[in-house]
Amino acid sequence: MTVQTFIPSAVKAASENTVTQPMHTADVSIKKLYIETQGCQMNEYDSHRMADLLGDSHGYVLTDNPNEADILLMNTCSIREKAQEKVFSGLGRWRKLKEQNPDLVIGVGGCVASQEGDNIQKRAPYVDMVFGPQTLHRLPQMLDQHQAQVEKPKKEKIKLVDISFPDIEKFDFLPEPRVEGFKAFVSIMEGCSKYCSFCVVPYTRGEEVSRPLDDVLAEIAGLAEKGVREISLLGQNVNGYRGETFDGEICTFPELLRLVAEIPGIGRLRYTTSHPLEFSDDLIQCYRDLPQMVSHLHLPVQSGSNDVLQAMKRNHTIDVYIDKIAKLRKVRPDMHLSSDFIIGFPGETDANFAETLQFIKDLDFDHSYSFIYSKRPGTPASDLPDDTPEQVKKDRLAQVQQVIKQSSIDKTDAMLGKIERVLIEKVSDKDPNVLIGTADNTRLVTFIGDAAWIGRFAEIEITEIKTLNLVYGELLNLEPDVA
Ligand code: SAH
Ligand code: F3S
Repeated sequence: MTVQTFIPSAVKAASENTVTQPMHTADVSIKKLYIETQGCQMNEYDSHRMADLLGDSHGYVLTDNPNEADILLMNTCSIREKAQEKVFSGLGRWRKLKEQNPDLVIGVGGCVASQEGDNIQKRAPYVDMVFGPQTLHRLPQMLDQHQAQVEKPKKEKIKLVDISFPDIEKFDFLPEPRVEGFKAFVSIMEGCSKYCSFCVVPYTRGEEVSRPLDDVLAEIAGLAEKGVREISLLGQNVNGYRGETFDGEICTFPELLRLVAEIPGIGRLRYTTSHPLEFSDDLIQCYRDLPQMVSHLHLPVQSGSNDVLQAMKRNHTIDVYIDKIAKLRKVRPDMHLSSDFIIGFPGETDANFAETLQFIKDLDFDHSYSFIYSKRPGTPASDLPDDTPEQVKKDRLAQVQQVIKQSSIDKTDAMLGKIERVLIEKVSDKDPNVLIGTADNTRLVTFIGDAAWIGRFAEIEITEIKTLNLVYGELLNLEPDVA
């Protein structure tokens, strides 16, 4: 088979700095909003929310051209690398646009905003608004405040910086999420309280806060009515979900999954991301009981060495992870497992690395992400001595990526002759008789069919492997619409 690089949408979005759902319009009187999104699916989700908010409050529509925008928003990420520098070089480009158009409004949100606060305006005084992941719902008011003080002399202007953590308020003020075809992302919790020693998330997004149960269920029921068939539950640690019920009780993540699975119309359930520590037996039972749950799990482990896991403060051993996966594969033998790995963590020895490599082979991971450790200011690991040469880290990363890639190719090849449950999503651009859908394991599946079937699930027998992420098949059974 030919190998194509697999780029999941979240990663693609990060690398291409995508704009969220642009709309094209020739009408110059319509105010236009451009959003640059860096980073994870949570940021993608937040960018959609920003667009919805400013659309509802001020009538802004999205554009994919920063040159024609009235507002430029940068939704930043600080998980790795010199994120701050990336933000400031991007803002440098926007400064030129503001010189040509002094009315242009520039806002910076996301995790770099949360970390840097007023420093952003100290380094880039042409930035008008700074907001964190927890205050983006206040954007319309911030914009009003900005507009109210545009004419004021500089010394009378107040700085518009709000990077506070107003608890759950963010969830209360938001409009319905946007439906993207038959799939939708629903945020169920925010932040993280795990404090892994390398990670900025608990500092930039705050501690874990769960959305109330009824809000989540009502949102999903509304989406199902609009035709959504696949829900991805989002959060940094979804299995840490503890949502309040209407009578003050607490609903856990497995309980939430069971309730969502009962909503008419929801034919498929995914979630990202979860933590091995809270990957409970109850959650494993959901895989036994709920056919809507996909046979695909992304469960970050970070390293295959107990020494490294301990230094990372992941609070579990490799054996704990292996046992949980063994239990899961008992109830779902066809489970596709993917993970995140950090390579070159401070103190990682050749022997530690060899354990990680062996672990990846043993657990037979599908498409996984691997990154060289990046020192993050303010995290406990940033004080650890790190004497592994950069070239050694790069060599280790290359080895890990080679093993993961080969394993992903093997997984696709193994689909030949198997029957996959596919959500039919669209007609091929190239041939109106060919339909395209996604399998549980995220591979695209094409087959001959009728456009009227779009939005339904089908059993497809895989007859040809085309690329790492694309297979051909034949229809065996078309499920009745789940609504
Ligand atoms: N909630 C997830 C992780 C979210 S961050 C969990 O349970 O692990 C997404 C991924 O970025 C992490 O899984 C980790 O592999 C990577 N990452 C986070 N901080 C990093 C750092 N300082 N250097 C390199 N990679 C990092
Ligand atoms: Fe980060 Fe660890 Fe939480 S990786 S998001 S602190 S689980």
